Amino acid sequence: MEHALILGASGLVGGHCLKFLLQNDTFGHVTALVRRDIPENTLSVHPKLTWLPFDFKDPAAYETLPATDAVFCCLGQPLNRLHRHRELLEVDCHYPLRVARRAASTGARHFAIVTSSGISRYSPLFYCRVKARVERELAELPFTSLHLFQPSLLLGERSDPHPLQAWWGRVLTPAAPWFRGPLGRFRPVAAEAVGFAMVHTALRPEPGVGRIPSHQIQELFARHAHETESLRGTSFAREP
Ligand SMILES: NC(=O)c1ccc[n+]([C@@H]2O[C@H](COP(=O)([O-])OP(=O)(O)OC[C@H]3O[C@@H](n4cnc5c(N)ncnc54)[C@H](OP(=O)(O)O)[C@@H]3O)[C@@H](O)[C@H]2O)c1
Repeated sequence: MEHALILGASGLVGGHCLKFLLQNDTFGHVTALVRRDIPENTLSVHPKLTWLPFDFKDPAAYETLPATDAVFCCLGQPLNRLHRHRELLEVDCHYPLRVARRAASTGARHFAIVTSSGISRYSPLFYCRVKARVERELAELPFTSLHLFQPSLLLGERSDPHPLQAWWGRVLTPAAPWFRGPLGRFRPVAAEAVGFAMVHTALRPEPGVGRIPSHQIQELFARHAHETESLRGTSFAREP
């Protein structure tokens, strides 16, 4: 049985990813790094799960991380703070890379991370350049398999939705005709589908670097949706 490490389990995608990790028998133990205390409630308790309070800002803390087989990174600066470039660089690039370096050096074989669609080192948007950078630097680490999930707009229930996100969600519906063909990679996708795809593709990962765009995440989820039926309505994300 494998040991999984998850970052960002209190977030939207991370909550779903955690749910699928706990459900899957391949993973016998799941450690979730969190920066705040987890309130004691039935949703945050599971025999396979250890919540590990962690100071992401302390470089020395990374040396204390347990050895794991696979890492699932769903960290991200909230939408309403994307203009804080220094924080964004820390949360979306430096923190994942520090965890990844430690994991690679202690024997982890697989690393999965949520980045974004439309990213490029030449993008005028800082966010897109940061996401491209984290992908590039992760690809240099000696994981057997690295999966880069590149969703477009994430759909799902948020306790504190950003007004722009809610508006985009209404305008950019996944069924819109312009999201066919090459533009499929910009199709909005359910956060649950991303969490599912991260776990599902980790069970028998292809060696090397795999990029999984929005439409492929959705297709994968649709093909295997029946596997998730028993889990609907369950969430292990932290309550607000
Ligand atoms: N929103 C979109 O439409 C969209 C589209 C494409 C890609 N993405 C990317 O998808 C990923 C997941 O997005 P999401 O919407 O699921 O994110 P989310 O719900 O905002 O969750 C973000 C997670 O990161 C953690 N985090 C944030 N700032 C942190 C900090 N300074 N130190 C430690 N942990 C921190 C949060 O922990 P706390 O609970 O402690 O705050 C939370 O667990 C992100 O990388 C995002 O950039 C998002």
